[in-house]
This record gives sequence, C-alpha cells and structure tokens, in this order.
Amino acid sequence: MEQLKNRLLDELSNASTVDEVEALRVSYLGKKGFITDLMKNLKDLSGEEKKTYGQKVNVLKTEADQKITQRIEELKKLRIEKMIEDTEQYDVTLPVGLDQGSYHPITLVQREVEEIFASMGFTVEDYDEVVDDYRCFEALNIPKHHPARDMQDTYYLDNGQLLKTHTSAAQNAIMKKYGAPLRAIFPGRCFRNESTDACHENTFFQMEGMMIDENISISNLIYFMKVMLSEVFKQDVNVRLRPGFFPFVEPGFELDISCTICGGKGCPSCKNSGWLELCPCGMIHPNVLKEGGIDTDKYTGFAFGLGLTRLVMMRYGVKDIRDLNSGSLKALSQFENE
Ligand code: PHE
Repeated sequence: MEQLKNRLLDELSNASTVDEVEALRVSYLGKKGFITDLMKNLKDLSGEEKKTYGQKVNVLKTEADQKITQRIEELKKLRIEKMIEDTEQYDVTLPVGLDQGSYHPITLVQREVEEIFASMGFTVEDYDEVVDDYRCFEALNIPKHHPARDMQDTYYLDNGQLLKTHTSAAQNAIMKKYGAPLRAIFPGRCFRNESTDACHENTFFQMEGMMIDENISISNLIYFMKVMLSEVFKQDVNVRLRPGFFPFVEPGFELDISCTICGGKGCPSCKNSGWLELCPCGMIHPNVLKEGGIDTDKYTGFAFGLGLTRLVMMRYGVKDIRDLNSGSLKALSQFENE
C-alpha cells in the first residue's frame, strides 16, 4: 500500500494537465483500479485481519482521492496564472491604430473622379465583371473577327461568358436601363490576357463615361474632359484629340493631355512631346445607340474610357503598374494620408 501511494504521488506530480490527473484517478480508483483491486485480497484474510486491512485500504482510498483533487485544483490555478501572464504581454495602454488600414490609391482616385462627375450631373453605375459576348462585343458594333475577341486577349469562361475586357461592356445595359437623355459613369475592373510588365497588367481599372442628349457634339466631350482632368490634376490642363479607331465610336479619338510634369514644354515623362496619351473616346456610333434603344434621329452622345489605373500612376508617379495589384502593404500604405 505504501508503495502504491508513493507511486501515485510521484505520478501526480509528473502530471501536467487535468486530463492526465483524471486518467490517474481511473487507473487507481476506477472499477479495476490498483487501489480498488486491493479489496480483492480481503477474501483471503481472517476476521480481525480483514477489519484492519479494510480500514487501511479505505484510508488509502480517501487519501488518494484527496491528493488527486488537490492536484487538479493546483493545475487549474496554474493554468489561470499562465493565462493572466500571457494576457499581460499586451500593453493595453499602448496607442491604437499603428497598423491602420488605408484606401487603395485606385479607390482614392476613383472616388475623386466620381465626385467631380457627380457634380456635373452624372450618375455612378456599378456593373458586372462577368458578361456575355453580346454585352462586351456584339452590342458595341464589334464584329466577330475583331482582335479584342481573340482567345489571347479575352478570358473566356467554361459557360461561354467572359471577363469584361473593357468598361464599355456596360454601355448597352445602361442605355436600356435609363434611356435618353443620360449622363453616367461606370468604373470597373477589366481583364485582358496580356503578359505583364511595368506598364501592362492583366487586371486593370477603367472608368467609362457616357453622355447622351440632344445636340451633343465633340465640343461637349472636350469640355467635360478638360474640366474633369483639370480637377484631377489640380492644375489647368490642355487636351487635344487625335484620330483613334474603336468600332463603337464614330468619329473616335485618342485624347491627350498636356504633360502634367513639364506643363507641355517637353520632358522624359512625355518623351519630349509635351503631351501624354490618356483616354480613348468618341461620339457613340449610331449602331450602338440603336442597339441600346436610343432614337438616333433625336439623340447623339459621347463616350470615353478613362484608364483609371493609368491615371493613378500619373497622379502618384507610380513607375510599375504591378505594384498596384501586388497587395504589398509597403507599397500601398504610402498613400494612406492622401
Ligand atoms: N473601351 C475602349 C478600350 O478599352 C476604350 C473606349 C471607350 C474608346 C469609350 C472609346 C470610347 O479600349
């Protein structure tokens, strides 16, 4: 009995969890436990011996039970102390907000441009990233053989839909939703299967704009772009149009702005031309208006596809487009005070 007791005490002090102690309780005091087993010897003993032996086993039983309960309490206390100690590693008096999140520079510029257009009466529309061939191409007067439909350019999904390659994919739905007259901008993420480098990404943001009304002409387009870009760059910018081809506009243009770095004098950023290419645009093709249910005898309109990602790069002098999608906090947290 003495040996059994010492062994139990030994094992109890080695046990480091409540579960381990409970297991000891079973192996010593359970139905087939070591101490319980001692009672089996009773039948071999005579009257008086039986009595003293029985008493001794009972004392051992009670003692073992006490020791076990005591060890459990001890371990519970230790666990709480450890928890308190761990918690105290956090200094609750430290100032909070050291790792505060911040808006992505694309979100910052997007919101700014949205506000400028909203003040000119444009609504801001949200649109799907997954669209069908009709929305992305067909409704935009883009014929079947157009290179934009090429498998190398467009990400097609198994169900025949595709990831929109440009925000123009929303034009048709928005025309049908509101009819004319209409002023809307629709920012969105676009996807093209391109190999990436400092200037190209397979995922980028555009902001499409559309204005349809009676007597809308190229001068309206130039005016809106000039006002908006002067606001964005916080300086008076000049714009110029060069011819550009897109099946959904006629005439189509590439809009350049006077270089925001040198003011038009010529510098490495504008390759000494004084101009930066910024935004394709044009007068909406009558076929596109008709497809959107707009009366082309009464209404005309312009559309533009502002490269939002490009605008962000120019605005903040970001040299590598890949930084913007990298998710690198080191790169992105620089904009948090903007
Ligand atoms: N959707 C065209 C593109 O991404 C840009 C564009 C928009 C051109 C609107 C003209 C008018 O290439």
